[in-house]
Amino acid sequence: MTPHATVTPSPAGPTTPIVNSYTEWEPLEEVIVGRADHAFIPRWHCSIEATMPKRHWSWFQAHGGSPFPAEVTAAAARELDAFSMMLEREGIKVRRPDPVDWSLPFQTPDFGPETGLYGAMPRDSLIVFGTEIVEAPMAWRSRYFEFRCFRSLLKEYFQAGARWTMAPRPQLSEASFNDGTDARPYDVQAGRSAVTEFEPVFDAADFCRVGRDVFCQLSQVTNRFGVAWLARHLEPTFRVHILEVTDPNAMHIDASFIPLAPGRLLRNPERIQHLPDMFRDWEILTPPPPAIPEEHPLYFTSRWLSLNVLSLDERRVVVEAGETPTIDFLKQNGFEPIPVPFRNFCSMGGAFHCATCDIRRRGTLQSYF
Ligand code: ALA
Repeated sequence: MTPHATVTPSPAGPTTPIVNSYTEWEPLEEVIVGRADHAFIPRWHCSIEATMPKRHWSWFQAHGGSPFPAEVTAAAARELDAFSMMLEREGIKVRRPDPVDWSLPFQTPDFGPETGLYGAMPRDSLIVFGTEIVEAPMAWRSRYFEFRCFRSLLKEYFQAGARWTMAPRPQLSEASFNDGTDARPYDVQAGRSAVTEFEPVFDAADFCRVGRDVFCQLSQVTNRFGVAWLARHLEPTFRVHILEVTDPNAMHIDASFIPLAPGRLLRNPERIQHLPDMFRDWEILTPPPPAIPEEHPLYFTSRWLSLNVLSLDERRVVVEAGETPTIDFLKQNGFEPIPVPFRNFCSMGGAFHCATCDIRRRGTLQSYF
């Protein structure tokens, strides 16, 4: 493997900036962990149809615009609290978003009335590139005001020295969506995404940080215009690469492409068949299939949440406690998995990576290629 060249020295002085994160694996010091409270089910729309497992379409059609079942959010909230306590025991500072009532209806000149979703998945809204925190221009109308639950934290981080950017607000009018009049199923690889190229949109979770190289996928919520906006915003410090990911329902790259350490990558064998040549010196690990039972309700996602792990450093990885095959696989490959029960939370659309946004990891900008 080629030695990793340091591109930019760390800022002078003994302390790491309050917001500081360049990779998915450097030692974690501060993290936002989401909240399940007051979650609302999004209303049926082509952007929901494009992503949700078909067997749950009728659930969304029947319950969109109503609260999530209280027993699901209560059990998810308990798991989030236990996960947060585990992180604190490891010496990591845990921050939580503000509680927000997502049932409040809203209307914009371009759409509505609409209700919110939740503050459960900070990874979807927020991403840190070095010392800057970026708020994503998300494509789901229900998420238009999701930023509100993070604003107390973002203001605090700004006051403490972080850079803070909100990407251009999308309009999310009819022009932003493929309206479903074409009867073919949505399929990103076939060039048929739920989102058009009318304006930049992306979810932060469609991007993954590997030092100065940032990898992303086009998805049902991320268009080329959105990737171009972020790439230009980040250049020349960071280079953005679009990966080939075989996932017709693509929404968020963090159950498909998971860098765990310098030169070590976990890949979803169903979704990543080709990687750019720049990975030729990397060790590509192919994990076993997920263990979560088929009948467990995963309204928003595939079962590959087994790979939606959170690295505490290059060795320690938080994994769902029931994912024994993945846990054993990581151990065999020299990692130290930390099993944490999270299946109730998974029903809300993500696991540990989705439920968090790393604010500070100990490290500096480097190239790993
Ligand atoms: N949307 C991703 C999946 O379903 C997390 O695997």
